Amino acid sequence: MAKVTVEEASIKHLDRLYEIEMECFEKEAFTRQQIAYLLTDYDSVSLIARVDGEIVGFIIGKIYVSEKSAIGHILTIDVSPKHRRRGIGLKLLWNIERVFRCKGVKVCCLEVREDNVAALSLYQKFGYKKAGRLESYYGNAHGVYLKKVLT
Ligand SMILES: CC(C)(COP(=O)(O)OP(=O)(O)OC[C@H]1O[C@@H](n2cnc3c(N)ncnc32)[C@H](O)[C@@H]1OP(=O)(O)O)[C@@H](O)C(=O)NCCC(=O)NCCS
Repeated sequence: MAKVTVEEASIKHLDRLYEIEMECFEKEAFTRQQIAYLLTDYDSVSLIARVDGEIVGFIIGKIYVSEKSAIGHILTIDVSPKHRRRGIGLKLLWNIERVFRCKGVKVCCLEVREDNVAALSLYQKFGYKKAGRLESYYGNAHGVYLKKVLT
């Protein structure tokens, strides 16, 4: 069985991450510049998954710190189509939550398209609960706001 490893991402991975983003999203994709910004932003957490050394997926989140709490926000999770349904998405989520916890995050949240069955199922399987509906959040499609308390 192929070995999946997860490590911190950096700007040197930008080309490959943008390639995967293009494979994953026909619309609403992050631009190359947005990914570059997130990879270098101090408050972001970016991780990549490799299979036998090849980058096949990534996850990016951001931490918002207020006086009272730190909230983790998952911005995107992408797994290259030919590597899906092998637990890589779950592994990326598990790892970003581990980093969030280490940085004092108690609650993690995200938005997802209501019709994104794969992502919704993944998040719900990993303990995320619906906390609101986001009317026309994606223009022509509604979104769902999901939340999880990190224990
Ligand atoms: C969502 C995504 C990251 C899932 O990655 P993945 O590596 O295939 O996910 P996993 O293999 O870890 O799946 C874990 C569980 O999630 C659920 N799931 C994943 N893909 C699913 C699908 N297509 N249909 C239904 N459930 C699905 C299942 O419960 C699955 O467990 P199972 O395989 O034992 O049934 C991937 O489909 C993807 O990159 N999609 C395009 C990008 C995207 O929409 N990102 C989310 C933006 S908010």
